[in-house]
Amino acid sequence: MITKILSTGHALPAKVVTNDDLSKIMDTSDEWIRQRTGIVTRHICVEETTSSLSIAAAKDALEKGGIDGREIDLIIVSTVSPDYCYPNTACQIMKAIGAVNARCIEVNIGCAGCIYSMDMADSYIRTGKVKKALIIGAEALSKMMDWTDRRTSVLFGDGAGAFVLGASEDEEHGVLGITANSDGNMCEAITAGGRPLDNPWTHIDPPASHYTYMDGQAVFKFACRKVPESINEILKPLGVSVDEIDKFFLHQANYRILEAVAKFMHQPMEKFPSNMSEVGNISAASIPTLMDQYNEKGLLKPGEKYILCGFGAGLTYATAYVRW
Ligand code: COA
Repeated sequence: MITKILSTGHALPAKVVTNDDLSKIMDTSDEWIRQRTGIVTRHICVEETTSSLSIAAAKDALEKGGIDGREIDLIIVSTVSPDYCYPNTACQIMKAIGAVNARCIEVNIGCAGCIYSMDMADSYIRTGKVKKALIIGAEALSKMMDWTDRRTSVLFGDGAGAFVLGASEDEEHGVLGITANSDGNMCEAITAGGRPLDNPWTHIDPPASHYTYMDGQAVFKFACRKVPESINEILKPLGVSVDEIDKFFLHQANYRILEAVAKFMHQPMEKFPSNMSEVGNISAASIPTLMDQYNEKGLLKPGEKYILCGFGAGLTYATAYVRW
């Protein structure tokens, strides 16, 4: 029994913010953002929320796969920007899609979150506990940004992407390898404040800022080192060479990271799909959104071999080898 990606979906907020829009509210420029990151626009929530985007992406994936919400027996949502501390976002989705008997889990992992969720769902499916799983990466990161901090706020956007995964007897097509790792030594490289202790026995003042802090250069170097390492680690035992891979769906953080990985692995840039110019870094939503956009255009072909690789806060990284 293996795990197959049955369908994909995504949802983006209606409001599009350009680099020029940002240059009107902070000391930045279209030229700097484009050259250093490859980002041109991002979608920002005005009316939408993390749960409304999650529900829209989930419904999109279910509809595209012709799957009824009642068939779903596991929902995992990866988000660092939920609407509530509780209930978890997966429970909100369960209600909206009419699932009746699903385990509902929310994970806080950041940009590797969707592949981490796939890893968890894969274990449930392979052990026979679950037949169909809905995994979603959803973020309203705009509420986590200090919009006076040009170093971080220009990089991120909002959105949600979804996969429906199912048990399959076809051992040739599906998730043929998956791994998830962390380096907790670098946990200070990307942070956002939580709630300080506050009860009748103690009161701790909130931090000066609870917005996102990122050591961009440290994360950049980490990604350029770990992504190729992780891809090689997964392909080697399977006897698959990097040259055999048709597309590398990497987390969309910075176009220069894609270029560095392509160069290191001696692969042409055409093998590295990208949508960051349009959506920016949408964290856990990044890979499923990108894959759904490719799927909509008929660019995912049966038999093709894909790498999906996410990396970010934690620092965490996770890689899947998928035969479509
Ligand atoms: N507009 C204009 N200037 C900016 C700017 C902006 N939006 N942001 C930073 N700068 C300035 C800096 O202040 C700095 O100026 P200084 O030298 O006078 O201090 C200069 O540009 C260079 O900054 P630096 O941080 O060295 O740029 P960089 O080339 O390392 O690019 C990132 C910064 C964040 C784009 C890059 O490091 C990156 O993408 N890192 C990875 C992020 C990532 O993958 N995150 C994943 C999270 S999941």
